[in-house]
Amino acid sequence: MNRRDYLGLMGTAAALAAASPSNLAFGQQTRPADDGKPTTSTVEDRERRMKWWHEAKFGMFIHWGLYSTLGRHEWVMENEGIPVAEYEKLAPNFKPVPNAAKAWAQLAKRAGMKYMVMTTKHHEGFCNFDTRLTDYCAPKQGPGRDLVREYVDAARAEGLRVGFYYSLMDWHHPDGGRCKTDEAARRRFVDYIHGQVKELVTNYGKLDILWYDVAWPLDAKGWESVEMNTMVRKLQPDIIINNRSKIPEDFDTPEQRIEASQNRPWESCMTLNDSWGYHAADFNWKSPTTVIRNLITCARDGGNYLLNIGPKPDGTIPEESVRILSAVGDWMSKSGATIYQSDPCQPRRGNYLSFTRKGNTLYAHVHYWPGETVVIGNLLNKVQSAKFFATGQPVKFEQDDYRIRLTGLPKKAPDLVTTFALELDSEPKQDHEGKRAVKPREPAYKSV
Ligand code: GLC
Repeated sequence: MNRRDYLGLMGTAAALAAASPSNLAFGQQTRPADDGKPTTSTVEDRERRMKWWHEAKFGMFIHWGLYSTLGRHEWVMENEGIPVAEYEKLAPNFKPVPNAAKAWAQLAKRAGMKYMVMTTKHHEGFCNFDTRLTDYCAPKQGPGRDLVREYVDAARAEGLRVGFYYSLMDWHHPDGGRCKTDEAARRRFVDYIHGQVKELVTNYGKLDILWYDVAWPLDAKGWESVEMNTMVRKLQPDIIINNRSKIPEDFDTPEQRIEASQNRPWESCMTLNDSWGYHAADFNWKSPTTVIRNLITCARDGGNYLLNIGPKPDGTIPEESVRILSAVGDWMSKSGATIYQSDPCQPRRGNYLSFTRKGNTLYAHVHYWPGETVVIGNLLNKVQSAKFFATGQPVKFEQDDYRIRLTGLPKKAPDLVTTFALELDSEPKQDHEGKRAVKPREPAYKSV
């Protein structure tokens, strides 16, 4: 569609927003990423920038800041009503070991993750990076050095893509609350935020992801989000931006749940226990099997999985997180190829398994091992061959109109999650309802 047709379709207000000078500065005059909503990129450009991200599927989130020193969740300042002056005293006492991020990056790689996203500044307002805009930052406080620089170097050393989380909401900045009602305060605060975002996208080389969080208390206009993200894209033309600056940008961010977006890239972010920041008393850890199953669900529905660690105040990773992610990594080293670069997969339901696929190959991942026979109901395809994915060992199977039975299997599950690869004659499709409607009913007992 050419630009004139597109403007004609959009209606005046939306067209004006899309045609703002900042957009046109990019010379991008094709389809906008989200019809009618202000945006700073196009669908075509998004597809180019996001190819690696879609293939990667699995990333590590890292929440680390002054709250880690208290060990009672990253919202401790607000939820315990801690005054700013009292909270600030944590800053000189934040003394992490040098290069703690090396172990994060090594663990991410071991787990099969392909990218990392670290909190450069969380809601508390403390900056883990070097900034000229406040003294409330790691180099000028306890750490005495730029923790974001260490993280960037560590991620790159392991060949992982680099993402920055940045909280727009700020509980420390004097204008962070009153900016809603006081225009002079808003001006100062937005200059501060844009200034920091500019520092972040200028000072660390090529970045892969910008992950904004909580846009309270302003809207997109108040934050000047279009201008902010236009500036970001000018300095980082390949960067991927999430949807939390109150404009949709490149991807959606369902939190603590897996929910596919319609026709939009999405990434489900999740904690390993119930907190993002280090929480010493939170032992509600997910099992490796749960993590693997969640990753499979994301891949099946065309999304990514961003899984969090909350390092301790010294920067070391809680032992349970290491244990869980190492087990996930063992599985990924054998079966990761059923996740990376996989295509969205329509077959969804089984009581003890779930699916991913690549082309006509269906991967059946068994979470609860039923014993010597594994059965998949109501597939519409013909199975041509079946094997254990991890070992390549062939599996016997029988297929009729309603089910495929994989037979002669071991009594006990060979793996944490055992994966079968089924070669089908066409793209996998499952239709429970359709089959239910036509299934012959030959009851042994007659209805009365
Ligand atoms: C929420 C929380 C925050 C966490 C984030 C991760 O917005 O406020 O603590 O960083 O989710 O998605």
